[in-house]
Amino acid sequence: MPYSHPSTFMAVFPCEAVHARGRGVFFVCGIMGYVGPRPAVEVLIGGLRRLEYRGYDSAGIALGMAQGIHLVKRAGPLRVLWEELEQNPPPPAGMGIGHTRWATHGGVSDENAHPHLDCHERIAVVHNGIIENAAALRIELESRGHRLRSETDSELVAHLLEEAPGDLLHRLQAVANRCEGAYALLAFDLADPNRLCAVRRTSPIAIGFTENEVFVASGAIALAPWLKRCIYLDDGEMADLRPGHADIFRLHDLAPVQKAFHEVSVSGDLPDAGRHKLFFRKELFEQPAAWRSVMQGRLDEAGSVDLSDTGLTHETLSAVQRVLFLAMGSSLHASQMAVERLQQFAQLPAEAHLSSEFRDTRTFLEPSTLVVAVSQSGETIDTLAALRHARALGATVVGLVNAPGSTIARESDYVFDLRAGAEISVASTKAFTTQAVALDLLASALAAAHGRGPNIESLSALRAAPTIAEDFLEEFRLPNDLVERCAQAPGVIFLGRGQDLSLAREGSLKLKELSYVWSEAFAAGELKHGPLALVDATVPVIVCATDSRHAVKLRNSLAEATARGAYGVSIGADLNATMHIALPIHDATAAYLIGTLPLQLLAVAVAETRGCTIDQPRNLAKSVTVE
Ligand code: F6R
Repeated sequence: MPYSHPSTFMAVFPCEAVHARGRGVFFVCGIMGYVGPRPAVEVLIGGLRRLEYRGYDSAGIALGMAQGIHLVKRAGPLRVLWEELEQNPPPPAGMGIGHTRWATHGGVSDENAHPHLDCHERIAVVHNGIIENAAALRIELESRGHRLRSETDSELVAHLLEEAPGDLLHRLQAVANRCEGAYALLAFDLADPNRLCAVRRTSPIAIGFTENEVFVASGAIALAPWLKRCIYLDDGEMADLRPGHADIFRLHDLAPVQKAFHEVSVSGDLPDAGRHKLFFRKELFEQPAAWRSVMQGRLDEAGSVDLSDTGLTHETLSAVQRVLFLAMGSSLHASQMAVERLQQFAQLPAEAHLSSEFRDTRTFLEPSTLVVAVSQSGETIDTLAALRHARALGATVVGLVNAPGSTIARESDYVFDLRAGAEISVASTKAFTTQAVALDLLASALAAAHGRGPNIESLSALRAAPTIAEDFLEEFRLPNDLVERCAQAPGVIFLGRGQDLSLAREGSLKLKELSYVWSEAFAAGELKHGPLALVDATVPVIVCATDSRHAVKLRNSLAEATARGAYGVSIGADLNATMHIALPIHDATAAYLIGTLPLQLLAVAVAETRGCTIDQPRNLAKSVTVE
């Protein structure tokens, strides 16, 4: 049933899924807090709805009033909580905190949902992240007679606050110093009315205020309906928040910290997939506009690239002798493509590293190495940790992000803003291809700074790519036969060489994320060294061939597969495949972008055929902020 509210609920979008992505344990809970003259319940629910896309399994709010805390928590989508609030309207309150939880410590239940209260029900807490020493703290608190109501690590914070001396800020400082792990905490205490306190250790917190109110959330997107500017807590910082004020302190000694304001650049409207029904499709079709936007003012008709908005000068770029990309998932694939481009355009050595592996290496970084942290969200913990590792080794870092206020942006020396617009679908579309365009620009700027370039043909093809993509998206029809075969296949193999290996990896990732069909990408040359054993008539083999320089070798690889009965597909160069998808452009730089489109369309079509939850695939989350 749709749910709505006159002032805060402008549209409806699905919120059922529970998701996690990547290695290890990580969290995507959403935090929201408010103090001011508006009904806090509306602000809390309105903010939490904007955080829904991150994934969660239960939700709750705690409103602070003179007569006590009004607590409502429900397992399931936010809609369930809202229906409860509609049936039993809470008393008016101008202070509250809210939360969307993704279960870790303890199952999905009303009791385990946040906020959590202390024994006397005077203190309320919400928490994003993990408290690693929770087991020891629980034993300690229970031995002192605390009555714990949930199985969560988060509830411990409320009880620790209850015991700590001093005002709320000092108590939260003491509690944060007892809690090991990576987290964000937001709390209020009825003894200290109209005041919220927050602390950040790794998990993001954004804060904003007007003359007579204060807002806090785990992402600026949740503040957008009310604020144009916000500040971000950095790691090891605390916030003391009252209507009209946000005082920020260092966690370890409570020394005051001056913070810069950042623009809240996202729209205040609730995201709406409109006629596309799915955010994945909507964002797929938004790609041409996103490419125009990333090139705007950075690439002119004569083929010169100007990255002055990023702060990167000709002088800085000409000093670079090596480039190292750090990224995860699709962002890594864009980086792997960029390695090719760097070598080709700028003739500079380049490497792309999985951030999660790089952070533990002892790599030597010369001062002339430029490190590029590629992350659409700007919050991916592995990439953030790798960036910090690189900076500790003395590297200069460019953060290439779609969120200029994000932690990766704030901790980078230079920020390359993708300007792709908010990406709501968990699986990336426009952020990935916009990264590819941005990295083409970076490679071209490096080439120019080293007196090599410009590569006029590629740059003019890049400028033409958005219009070509629009026509392609309008005319292209995915062959049903291909969709059906992939939907029923025990597995799908993607092959490529050079830039097409990164495209094959992206095609494979998209297919497995959206449709849960097992797929794998291999370098075409690797096929006969083992993977060929997987090939039979049930396994489609999709060869990405957007760089025609490799066409002959790719044709041979495909022939090896089709000789074993495989259903062969080629994208780009014609490789005598059973099914060929031609692209309306030959320049490799632009063909890479256009070649991504049929792969994305294939993934969503196969997922639809198999009845999958496309915008929020099972087990995946949008922003992986804690390990
Ligand atoms: C795949 C996808 C992920 C992300 C990865 C890194 O569709 O979206 O693989 O690319 O989790 O995320 P960011 O780019 O935010 O660092």
